[in-house]
Amino acid sequence: MAACDAARMKNVFQERILSGKNAYITGGTSGICLGIAELFAQQGARVAVQGRNAEKVQAAVQVLSVHGGAVRGWAADVRDAAATGRGLQAAREEWGEIDILICGAAGNFPARASEISPNGFKAVVDIDLLGSFNTARMAWEHLRKPGASVIAISATHGAHPYGLQAHVCAAKAGVDMLCKVLALEWGPAGVRVNAIAPGPVDETEGMRRLAPTADARAAVSAGVPLRRFAQIGEIAAAALFLCCDAAAYITGTVLNVDGGAALTGSRFIGEAPQARAGNRAT
Ligand code: COA
Repeated sequence: MAACDAARMKNVFQERILSGKNAYITGGTSGICLGIAELFAQQGARVAVQGRNAEKVQAAVQVLSVHGGAVRGWAADVRDAAATGRGLQAAREEWGEIDILICGAAGNFPARASEISPNGFKAVVDIDLLGSFNTARMAWEHLRKPGASVIAISATHGAHPYGLQAHVCAAKAGVDMLCKVLALEWGPAGVRVNAIAPGPVDETEGMRRLAPTADARAAVSAGVPLRRFAQIGEIAAAALFLCCDAAAYITGTVLNVDGGAALTGSRFIGEAPQARAGNRAT
């Protein structure tokens, strides 16, 4: 499990700025979304994390409990709307309406479009795009209105083509547009909907797959104007900003948190692995 560095970052927010807030985070058992969950827990929110692996859910709950607040875990796949709905319902029954929803569950593997099976393409679109829709759709009745903030974790892939990433680019483009439509429809109820588009982020499963060697990491960094990967805590800080009052008039936005990566022409990440069996899901 990737450790969150949020605790080591200087806190630029008011102490415990999320006190009394209820957050529900899909994909919150590892990587970026566990980092978001940790920062939110440190900032006083009650945090529920959903992941499809029950053991990882339990481990994440333990990590989050260290911060002393209320924590829930829910084992369900975001591709299963009904199961996701039951997780949201349980959180709402225990804590009340949901203030912050993070649609963060995602899947990725590098493969040429000419070699991805239709089912491989579908798996990623189903997790990223349909999963974000399922989460937001099932959460709607449980969101605090007005006042709730919904954030999808997209990627710069939503606006820029990357080699070996046809499935992810297509899914994230859909996620970005889904957020804009939801912002339009849900704005009158006082619900804001935004997306965060991270560039390369250290200690994530995605970058372990896309840049598995030191050479590949160096090539990715060279394509980023800030010449480095993001730390998970830097993405979490952007999520915290978007869901607090400082962003009260921001909705329908895709916020790049990418060190400027989207500005460059570096669009081909690594090489497709020869044997995809060694690259299968964990
Ligand atoms: N290259 C090409 N195709 C691949 C692949 C790879 N590395 N890994 C999986 N696939 C294909 C499978 O072959 C299968 O297609 P098929 O039935 O035609 O053979 C299809 O994808 C589904 O694979 P499966 O392992 O059954 O899917 P899953 O639903 O269990 O897993 C994935 C979803 C594929 C996205 C998997 O990589 C995953 O679970 N990822 C989660 C972790 C992750 O990606 N984190 C990074 C987030 S940015």
